[in-house]
Amino acid sequence: MKTIIVYASKHGCVEKCAQLLTAKIAGAVQLCNLTGEKNVQIADFDTVIIGGSIHAGRIQKEIAVFCERNKQQLLAKKLGLFLCCANLKQYEKHLKEAFPEELIQHAATVKHLGYAFYFDKMNFIERTVIRKLTGTDKTTEVIEQENIQQFVDALFA
Ligand SMILES: Cc1cc2nc3c(=O)[nH]c(=O)nc-3n(C[C@H](O)[C@H](O)[C@H](O)COP(=O)(O)O)c2cc1C
Repeated sequence: MKTIIVYASKHGCVEKCAQLLTAKIAGAVQLCNLTGEKNVQIADFDTVIIGGSIHAGRIQKEIAVFCERNKQQLLAKKLGLFLCCANLKQYEKHLKEAFPEELIQHAATVKHLGYAFYFDKMNFIERTVIRKLTGTDKTTEVIEQENIQQFVDALFA
């Protein structure tokens, strides 16, 4: 039973969620950061997990391209999709726009796994925008541990 987690992460929250998932999955797990890896092959894997985050309303382009390019293969895999985003009121909208509808329908699980604001990793503009939106410049990390467990259970239980 081989699993690959394909992800993109701007400041590290998605990456942290991918690592937390890896720690909970029995068997071989390959972590694949799409930023920097262009030719990801999923043929050898039984289970594919795809995770990204929302910045200014959009998921990372690498994730969108990966999903479109591999859609037919992904429809034949056990699939899990996860998203990190801070605006929970917009979660459903973000989700719909982030992943192709067919993949959302096919997935065994689709979850919000949390969000984080790592101010030390932001550039000046990002810091200014997020400080204005949240009213703070303190690093915040909200990881949905229960959702992570439910995500793994839905795929492997
Ligand atoms: C500049 C910036 C813009 C963001 N825009 C959105 C947004 O439009 N909607 C939302 O729900 N979250 C937004 N977020 C929150 C991110 O989705 C959240 O911080 C997430 O954890 C980022 O994960 P990553 O660092 O792994 O990419 C934004 C964060 C930053 C820093």
